[in-house]
Amino acid sequence: MRMYDLIAKKRDGLSLTGEEIDFIIRGFTNGDIPDYQMSAFLMAVYLRGMTDEETARMTLAMAHSGDMVDLSGIEGVKADKHSTGGVGDKTTLVVAPVVASCGVKIAKMSGRGLGHTGGTVDKMESVPGCRTSLPSEEFIAQVNHIGISVVGQSGNLAPADKKMYALRDVTATIASVPLIASSIMSKKLAAGADCILLDVKTGNGAFMKTLDDSIALARAMVAIGTHNGRKVAALVTDMDTPLGHAVGNSLEVAESVQVLRGCGPADLTTVCRELASNLLMLAGKGTLEECRALFDEAISSGRAFETCKAMFAAQGGDVSVLEDGSFRKAKYSHVVRSPRGGWVCATNTEQIGIASVMLGAGRTRKEDPINFAAGIVLNKKAGDAVQPGEALATLYADDESLFDAAAQTFLAAYTFGDEAPVLPPLVMARVTESGVERF
Ligand code: URA
Repeated sequence: MRMYDLIAKKRDGLSLTGEEIDFIIRGFTNGDIPDYQMSAFLMAVYLRGMTDEETARMTLAMAHSGDMVDLSGIEGVKADKHSTGGVGDKTTLVVAPVVASCGVKIAKMSGRGLGHTGGTVDKMESVPGCRTSLPSEEFIAQVNHIGISVVGQSGNLAPADKKMYALRDVTATIASVPLIASSIMSKKLAAGADCILLDVKTGNGAFMKTLDDSIALARAMVAIGTHNGRKVAALVTDMDTPLGHAVGNSLEVAESVQVLRGCGPADLTTVCRELASNLLMLAGKGTLEECRALFDEAISSGRAFETCKAMFAAQGGDVSVLEDGSFRKAKYSHVVRSPRGGWVCATNTEQIGIASVMLGAGRTRKEDPINFAAGIVLNKKAGDAVQPGEALATLYADDESLFDAAAQTFLAAYTFGDEAPVLPPLVMARVTESGVERF
């Protein structure tokens, strides 16, 4: 078999056999297939797509390219969630402790920020001392002891995905249903959970910009997980607007604490409530209504916040910052004001994510350090009325010279009008093995 011929086959729109897909994934993982050939192949997949059979086979080959985590040492049902990536998306920091505090084990591997989107592992590391890499015995013992651990992807979990993702990030081949589905589901299958809730973001801040593409992605991932014996469901949720008000690592941790304390922003609380209750339902904790009541009780009793603190403490984090919000603050702040009155009709959420990366909250190159205190706190979002000169947001950075360009990018993301816009629902669809419900 020659990689050249397989690239040509996909370029010409033909389907690959299982053996051909195994050859590509194995060869790329062990270094026999060079980056330039894999990049050409990824572009061919991006342009020509893959059949469901090809996507499923590639996912399995990627999952088996490294360790398959054995969670059998953890008693009870193990649950996991995964977001396809968004701006201000800090839902894991709420959903995971809520679900764990309701008796479902969370043994979760999360990712770092990617492009304009943030990542849970970076957010967790903004809590001083917090370790996101644990030896596997300690990870398992922590889950057995307190019900929850969230760590970064271990070195040898789906290494094919790690290498493919790095290429996709720089070859404009991210937003492809077969490539995202296989990337996410290979990690989820390798990570070993019984129940998986997928949060498929849709809109101008997501990798999938349209509802139809997002539903197609959700269906592909649910089918792959179900065929591999896992209980999987997906919610398609809005990413035309950042979630909550905070964008940037420690700012987002502080906002998730607000939700855990029952006083978070309404949109973020609603999305967390729907994600957590759907995951609890998958894990057999009752009907959706019963699981929503479990969410409410976990928050109002303070149990979910206690579980969150126990997780950070077990991983070496200084939980006093969660209790009193005493994260290190950025040295400088800069208020961006509205050039006119009226309504905020829409925001280009990807640009808001990019503005926060420009302030230091994300990476432009893989090796860049993150400034945990940098980011944006939004005062006005789509659907809000605004007066001329009123604050739209405050930007935070340790270097004042970053404000000019970031503020320009941020402001260009806003569209104003004279009438209140009609906003989409926060949860737009639910996809399970039995079909798609649109809301
Ligand atoms: N998140 C992933 O893990 N992979 C993708 O391809 C996109 C988002």
